[in-house]
Amino acid sequence: MDSDDHLQIETIRKDFPILSQKVYDKPLVYLDNAATTQKPLQVIRRIDDIYTTINANVHRGIHHLSQLMTEELEESRKTVQNFIHAPHFKEIIFTSGTTESINLVASSFCRSQCKAGDEIILTAMEHHSNIIPWQMQRDILGIEIKVVPVTESGEIRLEDIEELISSKTKLIALTHVSNVLGTINPIEKIIKMAHGYNIPVLVDAAQSVPHIPIDVQALDCDFLVFSAHKMYGPTGVGVLYGKEHWLHQMPPYQGGGEMIAHVTFEHTTYNELPYKFEAGTPDYVGIAALAEAIRYIDTLGIYNIREREDHLLRYATDQLSQIEGMRFVGTSPHKSAVLSFLVGAIHPYDMGMLLDRLAIAVRTGHHCAQPLMDALGIEGTVRASFAFYNTEREIDILADGIRKVSGMF
Ligand SMILES: Cc1ncc(COP(=O)(O)O)c(C=O)c1O
Repeated sequence: MDSDDHLQIETIRKDFPILSQKVYDKPLVYLDNAATTQKPLQVIRRIDDIYTTINANVHRGIHHLSQLMTEELEESRKTVQNFIHAPHFKEIIFTSGTTESINLVASSFCRSQCKAGDEIILTAMEHHSNIIPWQMQRDILGIEIKVVPVTESGEIRLEDIEELISSKTKLIALTHVSNVLGTINPIEKIIKMAHGYNIPVLVDAAQSVPHIPIDVQALDCDFLVFSAHKMYGPTGVGVLYGKEHWLHQMPPYQGGGEMIAHVTFEHTTYNELPYKFEAGTPDYVGIAALAEAIRYIDTLGIYNIREREDHLLRYATDQLSQIEGMRFVGTSPHKSAVLSFLVGAIHPYDMGMLLDRLAIAVRTGHHCAQPLMDALGIEGTVRASFAFYNTEREIDILADGIRKVSGMF
């Protein structure tokens, strides 16, 4: 079946004007969607619209605009809540991105739940933003980090996680989809197994929320984090979903306006959830634009998006595998639309730079996952990552481009 049956790609691409521009006088081929996605006009116009009509600081004003903006912000919270099927709006905390969401949990969870000698389990395929925040707590509190290995095909095994669990394990934090390997981890099974030991699980959904339907109640995850900019929304906004039960036990992450109930110089009491974790003026315009991005995804249908991207991944894998010297990094049968590769002895940086001259935007290097590169014994990869608006024609251009570059070496 042609995946265009459900999504009218040429029509959809008109929503993304950036895609039809030329780079070096050639049509842009944007295949760096795992780093950030492009934004549809609906999202861009929403930002423009808010600044043009209702911009005012939220929660603090009784005047008309402030009330409108506050309603907009709280409506956006409900849009996010519905999108990931969270039980309550109180469990949706707005942050500046996945990175801040993980830092918040690492800091507040560890401070309230961990003591020296306790253990946190991570996997070898984590993005630096799901490693460093835990290391920082390790250095403050004397906790330990255990690391689940990655198999040759780029997967983690349930039994390897279970083997690391001990009576000191306080949390498992892992990515849903690897930003390097594309592997979709079996988080349902992992969460079920962890809960059997009463261990909570944080899911880094930065690379899954834009591509895979997420239901936090069905998953039963304790925390789930993601960034707006990777899901057709604006930069500077992220989400932390946390079970109320945990959020209540965790102290605020930052102090400032809005997160308080009452302040004196002697003593401060804190606001209720979710505001306890939202110090200062939030990026309310960006948050409203995130809600617009979610409406955009809903209009296309997340299942249609998934089907389209699966098709693109299969097509790209097929086309690129015919190239001499092609080696895919990450060959799990359960993958999202991320294709990392190396060609012969060509350095990824050279490949990326020369593809750029052909107006093909891919990412090269360690992709903020140096420990994974060490585990795989490589310096880096070239990564093409797809979104529903990419086309088979663009993949053909990529394959031709790689051949052309290979011919130069
Ligand atoms: C798996 C994963 N986690 C976390 C992040 C960090 O996201 P952000 O930079 O938006 O905070 C990324 C970004 O590439 C990612 O791919």
